[in-house]
Amino acid sequence: MKRILFFTFVFMLIIVSCKTLKVSKKEYTPIDLSEDISYSNHIKPIIENNCLTCHSGEFASANLTLEKYEEVIAAIKNDGLLNRINNHEKPMPTSGLMPKNARMTFQKWADNDFLKVSENPVKQTEEENFVFNPPTINAVDIEKNGFEFMNKIQGHWTGKMFLLGQKLPWFSFDFRAINTSQVHGMFEGGSMGNLFNTFFVGEFKGTKTIMLRNGGILSGIYRTSYFVLTEANENEYLFVDAYGGKDIMWVKIKFGHDKMNMTTYTSKFGSVKSSRHMEFEGKLQNEDLAQQAAEKFNYPTKTVFKSFPNGMPKPDWGKEYETVTSASYMMMADSSMDYETLGKWAQDPIQISDLENIARLNLVFERDDLSRDKNISVYLSREPLTDSNDKMKMEYDYISMKAMNQVILFPQINKNQKQFELTYLHTGKCYITFVVDNNKDMVPNKGDFYSKSIELNLNSETIQKLSVNMIDKSM
Ligand code: HEC
Repeated sequence: MKRILFFTFVFMLIIVSCKTLKVSKKEYTPIDLSEDISYSNHIKPIIENNCLTCHSGEFASANLTLEKYEEVIAAIKNDGLLNRINNHEKPMPTSGLMPKNARMTFQKWADNDFLKVSENPVKQTEEENFVFNPPTINAVDIEKNGFEFMNKIQGHWTGKMFLLGQKLPWFSFDFRAINTSQVHGMFEGGSMGNLFNTFFVGEFKGTKTIMLRNGGILSGIYRTSYFVLTEANENEYLFVDAYGGKDIMWVKIKFGHDKMNMTTYTSKFGSVKSSRHMEFEGKLQNEDLAQQAAEKFNYPTKTVFKSFPNGMPKPDWGKEYETVTSASYMMMADSSMDYETLGKWAQDPIQISDLENIARLNLVFERDDLSRDKNISVYLSREPLTDSNDKMKMEYDYISMKAMNQVILFPQINKNQKQFELTYLHTGKCYITFVVDNNKDMVPNKGDFYSKSIELNLNSETIQKLSVNMIDKSM
């Protein structure tokens, strides 16, 4: 069976790992296949540039890490690596086959018994100095045009997601006002990203406009990226990187009748030609929560939440990465740092404490129920997923679609994880249900373990704590 761990790959508008941040030369330089092919000189750089965004860290795609010499060899011997990098139908990387020379380099390396280091160091080719001239960004003036976007984006959207070459059958975004000129949505396709999109009224170089802040913590990296609205037609809105412009990355949102389509393109900070990163198409399911929030916060108004009179402050990516191409603020997370500290170190212009009316929930996994040694999917939903007898709401052998469409967030907790803090949550009532997805098909269905749904009342003042020790039912 295919080991697609649909939730194990991480999800963000852009996938960034510090390892791939390096702005490399755009063109691939072919390797001279007549020389000794070694891991350190040839294979490792190709893997760093093409594979590690997905195949590294705790939440590596397909649970496959390719960070070490031994791991790459094991992947060739056991996981069909050579087949996958040459497979037009199911290519690795998922975005399409690498140049033939790069693929042959792997073959030659394998044929020659996986030389680790070569006696002959490769001549260092001179890296061209990469100069980046940011474009002028002309923000849409919402006093004239485009402000209706803030109304349209609100709501709970559920639908299909295309992400990094894969189609996910179910996904959702839940956008609700968190103050008078800001709408916020969490989304989560797995792991512990705590990822969010927040649209707010900002002032960008003297123009009152709509900006997007996107980010979270993913694979141990704190990142937020900022976008500015540069095109607004009645049904189509374009947000571009607030420093590097459209060439670096962009997000387009289209509205149809009760439908929303969100497409994002990224160039990995200018290191590759920009390509589609994700596409979501959803239907507006439940407007009530968004409506309540809008009423509560007198949303939407044109009150400026944050001003950037001179554009975005230039991020500091450290000495190693002198060329900054994007309004993205980053910091390697280590477990001793909390969100506040990370945000400060990343020099993020908006800190988590600047966001009002968001909640946090601390989950502690006891692991002495049916979840021992298993990953846990956490479902936050508007309505309970279990009925009055604490049984999962089902249709045939699956969770009913009606119940599934109540889900607003669904992070996955790794089997070794003992604790996890959900941040950036909406306040108010919701339900939480824990599922162990035994057959790894991403949907609660027959054979999976689960807990009854518990009601939560989240507020922005206290961090609630929940001890998870009630996954005791079988579907
Ligand atoms: C954009 C994310 C992404 C990139 C980049 C990527 N992979 Fe993958 N890879 C996946 C996902 C997701 C899967 C699991 C689904 C599948 O098998 O198609 C996977 C599966 C695999 C598998 C099969 C593992 C198994 O146990 O079945 C191999 C081998 C592999 N990748 C190798 C590579 C190599 C080598 C590269 C770089 C040349 C690479 N991948 C780049 C996402 C990626």
